[in-house]
This record gives sequence, structure tokens and C-alpha cells, in this order.
Amino acid sequence: MMRPAFKAALDQAREGGLAPAVADLELLLSAEDEEAQALHRAAYQVKLREVGPVVFMRGLVELGNNCARDCLYCGIRLSNDQVPRFTLTVDQIVAAARLTHQFGYGSLVLQGGERNDVAHTDFITEALTQLHRATGGELTVTLSLGEQTREVYRRWREAGAHRYLLRMETTNRELYARLHPDCGEQACWLERRRCLDHLRATDYQVGTGVMIGLPGQSLGDLARDLLFFVEQDVDMIGMGPYIPHDDTPLGRDLQSFDAGFTFAAARQIRLGLNMIACTRLLLPDANIASTTALQALDPAGREMGLLAGANVIMPNVTDTEYRAGYQLYNGKPGLTENAPETRRRLEASIEAIGETIGFGRRGDSPRAVKRGLGTDQG
Ligand code: 5AD
Repeated sequence: MMRPAFKAALDQAREGGLAPAVADLELLLSAEDEEAQALHRAAYQVKLREVGPVVFMRGLVELGNNCARDCLYCGIRLSNDQVPRFTLTVDQIVAAARLTHQFGYGSLVLQGGERNDVAHTDFITEALTQLHRATGGELTVTLSLGEQTREVYRRWREAGAHRYLLRMETTNRELYARLHPDCGEQACWLERRRCLDHLRATDYQVGTGVMIGLPGQSLGDLARDLLFFVEQDVDMIGMGPYIPHDDTPLGRDLQSFDAGFTFAAARQIRLGLNMIACTRLLLPDANIASTTALQALDPAGREMGLLAGANVIMPNVTDTEYRAGYQLYNGKPGLTENAPETRRRLEASIEAIGETIGFGRRGDSPRAVKRGLGTDQG
């Protein structure tokens, strides 16, 4: 049975228009069973209307796990001495870019631990220059390398980065401060938000996102995250459920962080899918990723994300040799599966849900195209 108030909120969200109230979004986010099916179906219809039955692929390069930050939840945090550190070479990054290009994926994501030292920022500039040279400038490139100065963002943009993904992690500033004790009080959240402004001012297609189902996070918080996406008017969203990692302070002791929290995979998946669906209803023409964290909780998680309104998948294209070093959370999948195998498997599973891969397409979001960033030329 659908609750009458839920049905009213869904009908309103489906029609678009005014941004809904927090209470309505909380209702939508609380969907289970039949309500969840209706919510996901509505979002999928919007996705079909806006981008068609197409999934954009990005080759994902996890370029290094050295990190200057000490986020309580993350497996590659500075203080975790259990993880062997690595950084790929420029040649290895170029090889991954070539593979992405050969696969016809059209787009590449460079992601890594946050580092602000000049050696690293220069290394990224060099990698961008080289990878474009090697692929005839035919790939669009997204960076996901954390908080940087405006100047660094500008240099990377000039070296050929088109998009930037910087998750806010949560818009609850108190929760953010508790999860990031290394960076001091709430100024830290404001600093991160300022980075989004800088990215926009530097002509990136801008993406953000949050972790879903964090201890200490309410449905109201998630509803406000959704409204933040709208307010920031972003082009892309990358978000996924929180998954504990054993070698982190948060993962070791969830209860002391939030006495009422117990980790349940089913709830994390449900919330993750509901967040994707609500985002699609609120930002119909944005690019929304179906992320690996969903797949970690359910082997079919990424396909479920697509059917709840996501339109982007980012398969790993680096050598399997380094993947164990990039464990942000327990049970991260794909440790041993090589890029060509992943490609075959994804092609089959995407076909099985009646979608096709947008081979050779840059995959700019219709939203970015309307803004004059990016192009719809495939
Ligand atoms: N569970 C889920 N996502 C995580 N991330 C980091 N640690 C975890 C975790 N334990 C996400 C953060 C970060 C991105 C690279 O990975 O949102 O921005």
C-alpha cells in the first residue's frame, strides 16, 4: 500500500516545478517495497525522457592512495598505516587513458587521495597534457582530487580537465566537523563549499555528492543534501552508501559515534537508490553516477542504480595490481577483474536491462550543455 501523503509527494515531485519541502523529501526517502518501486520507476521515466536509454561510461583511474586528509570513515586516511601506499606513473595513467579511448568510453575520471604539494599538482598537470596527446584530445576528463587552490584548479582546467567532482560528503555541518576532526570546526565545510564556487568560476562542469546512511545522519539531513544539489545547480552527482572500513576509527566503533546506528546493507542500498531517484526528479537533466559502493553491497547494485534514475557508470580501467591499495571501505568489488572482463560483463548487464552504452560519446550532461559547457555532439 502506498501512503496517501507519499503518493501526493511523488506526484508533486514528478511534475517538477517548485523545489519540494524537506518533509516531502523525507517521505520520498523513506520509501520501501511498493513505494520504492513507484519512486524508482518515476525517476527512470524522467531519465529516459532526458537522456534516453543510454548509459555513459567513464574509465576510472585510481591514481594514488597517498592522502593528506584524515577523514574518520575512509580507508586511505593519512593515519591508516595498514595500507601500502602507491602512486601511478604518468605512463600508467596514459596507458589507462588509451584503453578507455580504445574501449570507446569517451571519458576518463582521474581520482585519488587528496594531496596539495607542488610535486603532485605538477604531476597531474603533466598527466593531463600527456594523456590528451596520446588520445588525440578525444577524451573528456573529470578530476576528483579534492580541495585545491583556485590557481591549481585553473591550471588543471587549462591542461585539459573538463569536469570536477568534489563531494560535500554531508551538508550537515556539525556531522561534517565530527567526521573530519583534522580540519577544525565548521569553517572546514564552508571552505569545501567555496571550492565548488571556484570550480564553477573556472568553467568546469561541476559535480558534488554525499555519503548516504552515515551514522549520525537523519533522513532530514539527506533531504537537505538534495536541496543543496538544487541550490548549487550542479551538473553531476556522484554519491553512494556509507560502508564501514575496519581500519578506520568510524568503522571500528560505529556505536560510540552514534549509539542508535547499526549497519544494515539492505537499508544502505534502499537509501542509496532512493537518493538517486529523488536527485533525478529534482535535477532531471544532470549526470548521475551509479557508484561502486552500491555494487559492493549488492552484485547487481549498479544496475539497480541505473533503473532508479542514474545514467553514468565508472568502471575501473587501471591494472588490477594496485586495486587492493584503494580500499575506501570493506568489500570493495573488482579487485581481480581486469578492464576487458569488466567491459564485457557491463555490456551484457546493461543490455539485459534494455539500455545501451553511449560508445564514443563525451557524455556531457544535458544540463551542462544548456549552460554552454560541453556539447551534445555525441
Ligand atoms: N564508505 C563509502 N564511501 C566512502 N568514501 C570514502 N570512504 C567511504 C566509505 N567508508 C567516499 C567519499 C569520498 C569518495 C572518494 O569515497 O565520499 O569522497
